[in-house]
Amino acid sequence: MSHIALLPFIAVALSAAFVTASSASTTALEPLSSKKFTWPNIPYQVTGDNGGERGPQFGYNLCNSTTQNQQSLCQTMFVNGLDDFCMWSSSQVDDTIPESEAREVAWCTQPGHGTRVIPPGTITGAQWLYAKDYLQVVGFLDQTKVNIDAQDDGGELDPHGDDEQGNPLGGIVFTNGFGLNSASYQSQFKSGSNGSQSFTQVVEWVDFIGTGVFCLKMCNPAGSDAAHLCAHIYDEIGCNYNAIANYGAINGSFTVCDSDDMLDPGVYTSDGIVTTWTQPFTGTFSIPYTTSIPSSSNCVTYQSTDLWAAAATAFPTTTTTSGSSTATTTSGSSKSTTTGNTSGSSSRTGSSSSGTPSPTGSSNGALNMQANPVFAISFVVAAVFGTMLA
Ligand SMILES: *[C@@H]1O[C@H](CO)[C@@H](O)[C@H](O)[C@H]1NC(C)=O
Ligand SMILES: *[C@@H]1O[C@H](CO)[C@@H](O)[C@H](O)[C@H]1NC(C)=O
Ligand SMILES: *[C@@H]1O[C@H](CO)[C@@H](O)[C@H](O)[C@H]1NC(C)=O
Ligand SMILES: *[C@@H]1O[C@H](CO)[C@@H](O)[C@H](O)[C@H]1NC(C)=O
Repeated sequence: MSHIALLPFIAVALSAAFVTASSASTTALEPLSSKKFTWPNIPYQVTGDNGGERGPQFGYNLCNSTTQNQQSLCQTMFVNGLDDFCMWSSSQVDDTIPESEAREVAWCTQPGHGTRVIPPGTITGAQWLYAKDYLQVVGFLDQTKVNIDAQDDGGELDPHGDDEQGNPLGGIVFTNGFGLNSASYQSQFKSGSNGSQSFTQVVEWVDFIGTGVFCLKMCNPAGSDAAHLCAHIYDEIGCNYNAIANYGAINGSFTVCDSDDMLDPGVYTSDGIVTTWTQPFTGTFSIPYTTSIPSSSNCVTYQSTDLWAAAATAFPTTTTTSGSSTATTTSGSSKSTTTGNTSGSSSRTGSSSSGTPSPTGSSNGALNMQANPVFAISFVVAAVFGTMLA
């Protein structure tokens, strides 16, 4: 039996000391999530010196060609499409998410946003979902290539935190992906276009990274309830519950699909009654439900070398004397895509509405990895409150 099957029954213990710590928060500062910007009109720093007791802001939001390098401290992310998205990670090697959460910087799959670029080969599998009310990209990665220690279980980044200043402090997110679907994305990608140059600020988002897994969920501010759909209070229970996907089927492939919305994190149906569970912030708890994977369709498979060809330009190859050839991406290669599973049975469709969690259905080693971000997140809580106590 895989770990994931046991997950809902595993108790998570938190120190009671955190309770008193949380009451120490003092803030009359404007919450990060209420700061709205219209691209490209953004300030040098969104938070600057006004970060409260966890401040000042580590990097900057005004990013351009001069900040386009591997030392960039850009804290403005774009999550545009499978070929062009960013995630938060550390600027310092061998770091951990709990240590670095307030000072994460943007790492992107492509140059062009004034950020660091995720080295080619880092991401070993990914799935992008166009859901009605959110965009979601999840996948597997060698997190050491974005400065995270291989052993780090990681945690959640979101625009809130106990002091509402966000993790990272001042981090903001934009997208041109709302309104697209798998088919329109495919045409856009095939034509070589990088999409609309009109970018929407994503106000409510979650980003987990740790134990070789990442997940990003970007809730549409025009959707019905972005704050609940991208809730930030389920930080201990990881990607499985906050950005539901068929994780066991994702490593090794790169796909884009349409998808139904997941239920809000914490919401489940038991005996026909819709119930909302709230993650406690102290003591021991069990998660009282398992998730159902929303139905997906119109999946298209891409090649990572096509998706992220431009990333290689940020890492000029060096020739060694031993005569070993260095692999380079072929410029001008046609972008190949494969349409699959558009009809009937889709392997990544959870499909059962009975509440049976499909992750328990398979016994793939990757599933065990999913469990780890869940265990991990208690470290994040410790780090946040530890800072506040200091
Ligand atoms: C480029 O970004 C840097 C860092 O935010 C900023 O100092 C500089 O003024 C920007 N340059 C332009 C031309 O906007
Ligand atoms: C996208 O394409 C437009 C038009 O060609 C260009 O001006 C812009 O710089 C590109 N953006 C990125 C991030 O590559
Ligand atoms: C399509 O389904 C097959 C078998 O069900 C699976 O092996 C394959 O990975 C799926 N492809 C996509 C793009 O979902
Ligand atoms: C994902 O695949 C890569 C290589 O294909 C492998 O090294 C890595 O361990 C896999 N990740 C997980 C979590 O199974």
